Formats: sequence, C-alpha cells, structure tokens
Amino acid sequence: MGSIRNKGRPLAAHQAPLCTRTHRIGSLLLVFATFFLTRLLERSFPSCPDLSRHHHVPTAQSHVVFTGGGSLFWPERGYGSHLSLKIYVYDEDEIDGLKSLMYGRDGTITTEACLKGQWGTQVKIHKLLLKSRYRTTKKEEADLFFVPAYAKCVRIMGGLNDKEIDQTYVKVISQMPHFRRSGGRDHIFVFPSGGGAHLFKSWATYINRSVILTPEGDRTDKKDTSSFNTWKDIIIPGNVDDRMTGTGATLVQPLPLSKRKYLANYLGRAQGKVGRLQLVELAKKFPEKLESPELKFSGPEKLGRIEYFEHLRNAKFCLAPRGESSWSLRYYESYFVECIPVILSDQIELPFQNAIDYTQISIKWPSTQIGPQLLDYLESIPDEHIEKMIAHGKHVRCLWVYAPESVSCSALHGIMWELQRKVRQFHQSAETFWLHNGSIVNRNLVEFSNWKPPLPLP
Ligand SMILES: *[C@@H]1O[C@H](CO)[C@@H](O)[C@H](O)[C@H]1NC(C)=O
Ligand SMILES: *[C@@H]1O[C@H](CO)[C@@H](O)[C@H](O)[C@H]1NC(C)=O
Repeated sequence: MGSIRNKGRPLAAHQAPLCTRTHRIGSLLLVFATFFLTRLLERSFPSCPDLSRHHHVPTAQSHVVFTGGGSLFWPERGYGSHLSLKIYVYDEDEIDGLKSLMYGRDGTITTEACLKGQWGTQVKIHKLLLKSRYRTTKKEEADLFFVPAYAKCVRIMGGLNDKEIDQTYVKVISQMPHFRRSGGRDHIFVFPSGGGAHLFKSWATYINRSVILTPEGDRTDKKDTSSFNTWKDIIIPGNVDDRMTGTGATLVQPLPLSKRKYLANYLGRAQGKVGRLQLVELAKKFPEKLESPELKFSGPEKLGRIEYFEHLRNAKFCLAPRGESSWSLRYYESYFVECIPVILSDQIELPFQNAIDYTQISIKWPSTQIGPQLLDYLESIPDEHIEKMIAHGKHVRCLWVYAPESVSCSALHGIMWELQRKVRQFHQSAETFWLHNGSIVNRNLVEFSNWKPPLPLP
C-alpha cells in the first residue's frame, strides 16, 4: 500500500544509518514505554493536559487500520500521535432557531428526507458526532463546538427561504457566549453543497473565522468571492449512496476491466457549462470510446440509481468535469464502481490532501484540453497501470464513507484528524479580554460566566 503513509517515517529512515543496533532497540523500547505510559496516565488522570502530543513518537497509533487489511497512516506533522479532542454538539432545544435550521419554520421537514442525496453529509456528520467518543457534554472542557443545521435541505424543501436562513443563523449565534468568546474560531459549521458557506448570506460578517466543513473549494460561477479558506476550512467527501458504499449487498458490482464497453464516460447534464458541452460533443464524435447518454435526472423518465451506476461502471475512466461548482459527486462515486476518476475541474479542492497522494488514485487533466487528445491520452494508459490505480483507490475509498465510528477507516476519521489540527488551547477574540487572575471578561469587564444572550455580533 503505497498511497498513504505516515509522512514522519522517511525522516526516521534518514536518521537510521547513524544509529547502532542497540540504540535502535533502546529507542524503540523507549518509544513503546512512552506510548503505554502516556496511555496509562491519560486513563488515570483524564483531566491532565495531554503532554504526549508534544513528544515525537514515531510508532504511535497515528494510523487508522483499513477494513480490507493494510494500514492507513495519518501524517504526524501537526496532528499529534493519536486523536484526542473534545467536541461539544449544540442541542436543538438549547438554542432558539436551531430547530428551524434543521426542520424548517413549521418543523415539518424530516431528517430521513435530509439524509438522502448528495447533501446528506449535513445530517450524517451531526448524527455521527452525537454518538462519537470525542463528544463532550461539558462546554467547559470542549475544544470545539459543533453547530447542527440542515439548512441546504430545509431550503430545497421550502422549509426556509434565503432571508430566513440568514436571520436564523444570526439569531442562533447571538445566543452562544462561547461563539462570542472565540469570535467563532472554535465553532464548526457544515455547508454540504457547492455554494459552501454562501448558503448563509452574511457568512463573511459572522462566521468568517469559523471552521467550515464543505465539499467545495470555490464557487466562482455565481459569486465573485469564494467562502472557502484553505487554512481554516476542511474539505469533506460528498455523500455517496449508502447502498454503494456498504460492506454488505451493494446495488451494483464493479465489472472486470475487460468487460467494460467504454474507454470513458461522462454521466451528467451539460447545464450550459463549457467543459460539459465539449464532452457531449466529443461523445458524439467518438461514441464507441466515450459514453455520454442523455440522462434524465428528474421527471417521469428519471434515471434509477441502479441504471446510473450500471452506466458508471461500464468504462475504465469516469470523467468528472466542473459544473456549477468545481466539486462533483461523481468523483467519489466512481471509486465504488472501480472506475478511475478524471478530474476536469481546475479549481477543485480535495479532501485530506495531507494524507492522500491523489496521483495514485486519479487523474487531473486541464479543462482547456478537452478534446480528442484527452481520449488519445487515456487510451495510451496500459491496463496494468489502470489495475494498479484501481487497487490504490480501493484502499483509500473508505475515507469517502460516512460509516459509524467503530469502523476503523471512514470519512469521520479523516475529519476528526483534520479537526484536531484546528484545536487551540486558548480561546480569544477582539472582544475578549482577560485579567491577572484568569478571569475572561468582555469590553465592559463583565465576566464570561455572566455573558447573557443576545450577545452583540459580530
Ligand atoms: C470577517 O468579519 C469581520 C467582521 O465583520 C471583518 O472585520 C473581517 O474583515 C472579516 N474577515 C474576512 C477575512 O472577511
Ligand atoms: C478577578 O479579578 C477581578 C478584578 O479584580 C474580579 O472582579 C474578579 O471577580 C476576579 N475573578 C476571580 C475568578 O477571582
């Protein structure tokens, strides 16, 4: 398994020639002793600051074990050697407005409905966090705060309009003293669609310092600014149909390479986008190589899920051009039919870039080079190489699955590691002050425990 490993290791290998054998055995023993001791200490004194994070422990449990065997090493740099974080999840009854953001103004939008489709991540992440061992119910000890909202779904179902979403978010955060304390820096929001945080119109005023989980890196088609910030936000995988990602019976099984009819396919609507229109044209010229059927994604002839995946699996390469936004669910889906994704979206941001080498599992081709040269290039790639990429993709794809925390490799694990890097020991903002005796106060010298909602914003 070459695609993911602990980036700390090559360093250790360079140092190895300098060490004698006894040194090495000695240091290994030390490492194990440190590891077990810190574990023991953590258990006996759960309130102790976690000093083990500051030691360099090369063999520590920084890896997640793959379900299919083999190991996934998370790089240690900046992440610590193991997951140790506490997340407070706001309760829907605790903050006035959260329920509207989850079930609409009349409370009639069901969670089951919001769970489906490509935006289901906003529900799944919330549900998984509620059951997570990293959840805390004590705000005092929380490193991070999660604000649950299913606003994308609620909006689509007519449960709230844009203006209501905007006002409700503002109302919600004005009731959170902890948000005020940190200026939102330790608060997490999920925006599951291409629009990212733009779903909350005034995001730039209120939550521009918060950690935003989104599948999207940019949204430049309709908005001139991107709400995504590479350094504070986290890219999350899209929500692939559970029946394709489950370990049990799946909707559609992958085909052997030799049984696939097409070199490549593009399944999607053109939506008037240049790259997509070029693909549709290309498919007309080379119908035996590139499949791009006219698919109905709505209405009475709506393509069924099974049919969709049956098309998707019938090519060696699955083209994922940009649409309204740079992100495409197809990119993730293709891993589950073992089709190599070809990204035709220059601005794309991908999840877990600190851990995954995307050259081993996918291809990114310039969107300005969509034409016969793309097909010629794809045709030149030998099947053995394709098989190798598929094998790597099979190892990595567990990171796209919103599986329960008990599953050792999942999207949630990846997200947790990324969140751990965002943890600050101290929380402050332009409106937060502190005194000699540790009291946190506001501009009027009111102690934090007495900050009463509604709090001034931003
Ligand atoms: C974030 O919002 C604050 C408050 O409105 C503003 O002063 C600041 O310039 C914004 N920062 C960015 C990066 O947009
Ligand atoms: C800290 O000092 C301030 C100002 O002297 C005082 O008002 C506050 O009660 C003190 N806080 C604690 C926790 O002792």
